[in-house]
Amino acid sequence: MIRTLCFLVLLSSTTAWGRVSLWSEGRNGTGGGSGDRCTCDAFLPSSTFPIKDLVVVEQTAVEISHKLEMEMGKLEEYETKLTVYAEKIIKLTAEIEIMEKNPDDYNDADMEDMKVEIKQMEALIKELQISVSSSIAIFESLRVQITAMVETLNKLEKTYDKNLVLVTRREYIKVQIQLEECERRHQELFNPNIGSCAHTGISRVSKPIVSHLNAHLSSDHKFGGWGKDSKPIPDRETMYWFSGSTGASIGDIRFYTNYKNLILRNHFQHHVLHSSWTGTGNNFIIRDNTLYYQDSSPFGLAKLNFTTMKYESRVIPSASALFSYTNSPGQNFDFASDETGLWVTYASEESNGLMIIAKIDEPSFGVVEEWMTSVYKPGVSNAFMVCGILYAVRTIDMHTEEIFYKYDTNTKQESYVSVPFERFQDKFSNLDYNPTDQKLYMYNDGYYVNYHLWFNHTATVAPPTLLM
Ligand SMILES: *[C@@H]1O[C@H](CO)[C@@H](O)[C@H](O)[C@H]1NC(C)=O
Ligand SMILES: *[C@@H]1O[C@H](CO)[C@@H](O)[C@H](O)[C@H]1NC(C)=O
Ligand SMILES: *[C@@H]1O[C@H](CO)[C@@H](O)[C@H](O)[C@H]1NC(C)=O
Repeated sequence: MIRTLCFLVLLSSTTAWGRVSLWSEGRNGTGGGSGDRCTCDAFLPSSTFPIKDLVVVEQTAVEISHKLEMEMGKLEEYETKLTVYAEKIIKLTAEIEIMEKNPDDYNDADMEDMKVEIKQMEALIKELQISVSSSIAIFESLRVQITAMVETLNKLEKTYDKNLVLVTRREYIKVQIQLEECERRHQELFNPNIGSCAHTGISRVSKPIVSHLNAHLSSDHKFGGWGKDSKPIPDRETMYWFSGSTGASIGDIRFYTNYKNLILRNHFQHHVLHSSWTGTGNNFIIRDNTLYYQDSSPFGLAKLNFTTMKYESRVIPSASALFSYTNSPGQNFDFASDETGLWVTYASEESNGLMIIAKIDEPSFGVVEEWMTSVYKPGVSNAFMVCGILYAVRTIDMHTEEIFYKYDTNTKQESYVSVPFERFQDKFSNLDYNPTDQKLYMYNDGYYVNYHLWFNHTATVAPPTLLM
């Protein structure tokens, strides 16, 4: 009877043949050959289980995994080419120097040869640049595919037993880690712009990249944040942090040695904040192994250095608890960090709820300078800083946010812009930029989401060889 039912389920899903074995891999006693019909016993309790969806997700995972292996191979090839080109350039430079010193020893033909060699070099570098940007496009499309996988998995998890989806989930985690590794290598090789402020602002935001579904495996940790240290201490460069809560507060934080352990929920430290140090709101950040967050009592700024476990607090007398972001309560102080240091934004009754930007001196934890903006905080869904420029974001509709305003503290100029981007879930409580990888990190109703940013570069992007 069971076998017959099982057979029907498989028949109704033509693509299932041959894939079922992979999907059920790891289950004991089921054999594993594609002809073994017992492999689907696991989903028999619910005969309507959409195995087709799961199979598609799993196939996607395998395809992505193959593509990533190919990309990794290409990266190695680029690396070799870069080394060869760098050597050639050094050789050419030396030859030109000799020619310049002894111009009489060379004739026009020698000069022509030299010019040809330089032209060839230019062409090779151009070609490499094109290959590199095609890799970026591939990563981007893989990100989109992974996001679609997450959506399907999430739907399945909501409707059916989580265990049924578990094996496919592992496949998904595997490709996530692979992609991250691939992108990291790529970035190391080809992104000379990290840390640079030679641009006029953000021009585009990528599709949302989902790193994690429901925090703590439950859907009620709607508030929180995640990300990386924006000025990591030695040995903690790959560290990630996460803090989640059922309310707009912070009482603990977890540290993970790297991305893989974040995904596997395998923390190496779990700090529970002392009861008199707990915080409100969710616009905290980690910088220099230090947590910056909003103090509940006294209402103000808090700083907790995890290197020393030293806690400090500061009060900004004019700051008001009346003004928070549109969809998120209790977010009166919003910490941010960028290429230039540490910032906090808030609003006051004197400012009539308009946002004020304050630059913070990290050692003394005092406000150095302030700038007044003309955006009303309750109309803003969140804000962050990049290169001393405040970017304010607002909600457009169910799935869209928009960077709509910027204030440049360097020039005291403000302007309205429109850089829309997609949101994954309904609400978010934490959005911050990280200068170490030029990404935006969002905590979206328990989902860990991040975005790549593109900038309007004022200087042309340095060719890869300059990295040498
Ligand atoms: C299944 O489990 C039993 C005992 O728990 C073990 O002896 C057997 O080797 C396992 N089979 C497979 C295929 O892992
Ligand atoms: C970036 O440059 C584009 C094209 O020149 C322009 O339309 C856009 O407004 C710029 N964005 C910002 C944020 O400066
Ligand atoms: C945290 O403490 C360490 C050790 O005293 C110190 O070097 C570091 O500067 C402190 N960080 C901040 C942000 O104050």
